[in-house]
This record gives sequence, C-alpha cells and structure tokens, in this order.
Amino acid sequence: MQTITITRPDDWHLHLRDGAALTFVLPHTARQFARAIVMPNLKPPVTTVELATAYRQRILAALPNGMKFQPLMTLYLTDNTAPDEIRKAKDSGFIHGVKLYPAGATTNSDAGVTNLKHCWKTLEVMQQVGMPLLIHGEVTDSAIDLFDREKAFIDQQLIPLRAAFPELRVVFEHITTKDAADYVRSDTSKKLGATITAHHLLYNRNAIFLGGVRPHYYCLPVLKREKHRLALVEAATSGDARFFLGTDSAPHAKGAKETACGCAGCYTALHALELYAEAFDAAGKLDKLEAFASFHGPDFYRLPRNTEHVTLKRETWKLPDELPFMDTTIIPLRAGEVLQWKLRGN
Ligand code: DOR
Ligand code: ZN
Repeated sequence: MQTITITRPDDWHLHLRDGAALTFVLPHTARQFARAIVMPNLKPPVTTVELATAYRQRILAALPNGMKFQPLMTLYLTDNTAPDEIRKAKDSGFIHGVKLYPAGATTNSDAGVTNLKHCWKTLEVMQQVGMPLLIHGEVTDSAIDLFDREKAFIDQQLIPLRAAFPELRVVFEHITTKDAADYVRSDTSKKLGATITAHHLLYNRNAIFLGGVRPHYYCLPVLKREKHRLALVEAATSGDARFFLGTDSAPHAKGAKETACGCAGCYTALHALELYAEAFDAAGKLDKLEAFASFHGPDFYRLPRNTEHVTLKRETWKLPDELPFMDTTIIPLRAGEVLQWKLRGN
C-alpha cells in the first residue's frame, strides 16, 4: 500500500498547555486531528466549568485563521469536586470527561485525588449523568516499583472502583502494559475503553537508555518491556472497539527535559499520524488504522464520526531537530530522524 485515505481522526488524549505555549502546539494538532480531548493539568488545574469555559475560549482564539479544530474539554477531579459541578459540566455540552490524576502521579497532579473515597458522591453523579471518568492509572506509592505501578493500580484501585460504579464509563488512559490490555479485553460491560499512544506502540524501555539517557523518550507512565509493547500493538491493531488513539503529546521546553530532573512527556503532535501509521504498517495491519484512529473514540464518547478524510503517503522525510516553542524549542520524539509516512498537506 503506497497511500492510505482514512476518515479524519481525533486525538482522545492531548496536552495543549496554555498562553504562549498553546499558540505553538495547537496548529500541529489541528492539522492532524478534527477534535481532541484536552487534558486539564494546567497551573492552576481546570477544576470548574467556569475555568474550562475560559480555557476553551483561549484555545479557539489561538487557532490560526482557516484552521478547523474542536477542543473537547475535561475537568480535573480533586478531593473537593462538588457533585453539582458535574451536573453543570454535563449541561455545558462541551465537557466530555473528568480526569482522575492520583495526587503526585505525574506533571501538575499535586491537586489530584489523594483517596478515591473523597470522590464517592461526585462519582455517583458522573455515573448517573453519563460523564466519563478518564484515568491516569498509576499508584503513587513510592514502595511500588515504577514499572509496576499500572498493574498495581488495576488491582488496588480500578477493580474496586468499577465494582462500586458498574455503570460509570471509564477511559483507562495511555495504557502501557499487557496487564492493562488484558484487563480491558476481559471486560464485557461496554463501559470501559483505553487510549494507546504512538510512542508506546513503537518503543520499549530500552529506548530511554540507548547508549546513554534519552530524556525525550521519558514519559509517564514510563515505557515498559518489549512483551508489553507487543501486547499494546496487538490490542491497537486488533479491531477491538475498546482501544482508540490518544497521543498524550506533552510539550515541554527543551531545557525542561534536558536537565538533572527532566519533565515527563513525549511530543508527537506534529507527526502523530505518521507514527501510528508506521506502527500499524510494521504489524501488517494498516487496514485497522482507520477504526482505531477515527471510529472507536467517537463511538465510545457518543459523538458523531468525522466525515472528512486525510491521506497518508508512503514517503520518507526527515523530522526537524527542533521545533520553535516560545523563546526556546521543543525536541519532538524522533527528532532529526527519518519517518516512513507523510500526511498530505491540507
Ligand atoms: O508524560 C506525561 N506527561 N505524562 C503525563 O501524565 C502528563 C504529561 C504532561 O502533562 O507533561
Ligand atoms: Zn497525558
């Protein structure tokens, strides 16, 4: 196959940031995707409908003339999120999920949930009104090995949570392990979905240490062993409607990554579809890309599928070494390397 034309995809997990940073990264996503679920981990976090309304306006204002893009907003769950805020969010029509960050699990998660018990009433209302819970699924216990934190989260938090709220729709975000893929597949409720990033399909944890420490391959949840990568490829390319595209593209300035204590996040917004195409192509499953990228997400979120199309061409091109980002740069994943697929200009 030399070209592939698919329904325009959406990104079901994205970090757009705010202010000046937003203006640099938004056009990359808008060129690739029609819509994106926008993460709320700003400083301060997007905890209320009022804050989400203002953030949405800033995103739309930052969109270059002539580009079309629909931000799908989320709220940041805290120990104190009021049940009424969920009703307001549902009524807004533009808030499509509430994000659970276990406090301390990742970038700007300090205001996250310390104990799910504090959120019981709020979760009840989410279940009632049909507001999906989007989960960063890692325990924060420092006694648990970093590579085991997703599996521990499933056993300690996710299984009990879903037993308590069987009708709550849950997206297990950016899954990274065979354990998570198996857990999602074992579920028969139709209430559970999972996003998978391009970097977790393409790389295992060796990429972080290839000849020296490689900060641009460091994200959370961290890349895992090859057996886990293979399980994710199998899940993503299987045609199973519970798995869908979410880049988790997370821009950090070069200096914030290349430092003694570098931030977590891989930047893939510029070339996400090309990376996914490469992963599906390597698995011999390009025919499954469209459903994963363009159908399963809107179906889960109960939104219409897009009607426009995009075309990817088998064509090598060199990704820039750096991308402009405010008064500095971002180093994209695969910087300076050759990609095998190219999204046609549009
Ligand atoms: O790698 C990550 N970066 N994982 C997250 O969960 C957050 C994100 C960010 O905001 O930079
Ligand atoms: Zn994320």
